[in-house]
Amino acid sequence: MKTVLSGIQPTGDLHLGNYFGAVQNWVRLQQEYRCFYGVVDYHSMTMPYKPDQLRENTWKMAFYLLACGVKPENLFIQSLVPEHVELGWILGCVTSYGELSRMTQFKDKSQQLEDNSGKEAFVGAGLFYYPVLQAADILIYRADYVPVGKDQEQHLELSRNIAQRFNYQFGKEYFVAPEPLFTETPKILSPADPTRKMSKSLGEKHYINLFGEEDRVRKQIKSAVTDTGDTPAGQMSPGVQNLFELLRACGHLDAHSALMADYEAGALRYSDLKEAVANAVVGLVNPLRERYQELNADKKAVKAQIQASSAEIRKTAQQTLREVRELTGLPGLRG
Ligand code: AMP
Ligand code: TRP
Repeated sequence: MKTVLSGIQPTGDLHLGNYFGAVQNWVRLQQEYRCFYGVVDYHSMTMPYKPDQLRENTWKMAFYLLACGVKPENLFIQSLVPEHVELGWILGCVTSYGELSRMTQFKDKSQQLEDNSGKEAFVGAGLFYYPVLQAADILIYRADYVPVGKDQEQHLELSRNIAQRFNYQFGKEYFVAPEPLFTETPKILSPADPTRKMSKSLGEKHYINLFGEEDRVRKQIKSAVTDTGDTPAGQMSPGVQNLFELLRACGHLDAHSALMADYEAGALRYSDLKEAVANAVVGLVNPLRERYQELNADKKAVKAQIQASSAEIRKTAQQTLREVRELTGLPGLRG
């Protein structure tokens, strides 16, 4: 059976874009592959953060993923498997400074820090090293496939290069060069500004919370922007396209074709489209929120379960490290 690994940062809320662009796919892949899904809290230390909030958001993200249908035995918290960092160190020694300097995410995020606090912004070495830790996340489980968004393509390519360089340097086909699995779903757009993608960083009105209350979800869809002003005649505006896309993504295909026929006949009422989309999204969000509340009612037991699965997954990581230490010339504690 082939192996899949992916990771998500504990950023607080999950939105519809994260669900249709990532998490839904993770859940499906579990039927076919051996899957490892990590809440990558070490990665979240690379940008400014508050310790209490990191811990809270890490548990919250793990609970959200369970509520979405990630199987507990496939879920781990990255920092509960500290071997990721150990392997990250070793892999850093077969990664070049030049490669890391070319990473666009590093350039974007260090720019963001400078925009926020001027020229003397603190850009941590952790931010520079981020892609090496990501490579370690993947290689430590010898993952064949990595479901990610297009924005992670460059990091995946680097992981492949690191795997190949390690194998060459230590004379053994040890690591698997991982392949990305990109999702089919186009980017979900912001309801408040459909010229931009749905994202938490734009602010609250720009994303629909996957675990949001029904009233708010309905309101957001009702007030979604449909006319952005500059759409050429005869073309569907991005806001309307986005609403159709949500309907399709939610699996309401009959409503989708009926409303599309209205659109083509020039008889579509946006209020009807929005009503259909709101029903579809609420049909997705309500059961997820209930499931999340159930998990929260038993918080202690659920946390213990995640700790136990992380400990179990750690055994695989430890085995890799024993072999890597052997290959790279580090001594063992025993024997
Ligand atoms: P982020 O926390 O923004 O890096 O997103 C985590 C995952 O969700 C990534 O795999 C993204 O590709 C996916 N994602 C984020 N925003 C969207 C969006 N608006 N539409 C589709 N997928 C998204
Ligand atoms: N860098 C990824 C992101 O920002 C998160 C991530 C960390 C990841 N480690 C990973 C994704 C390993 C896939 C595999 O979305």
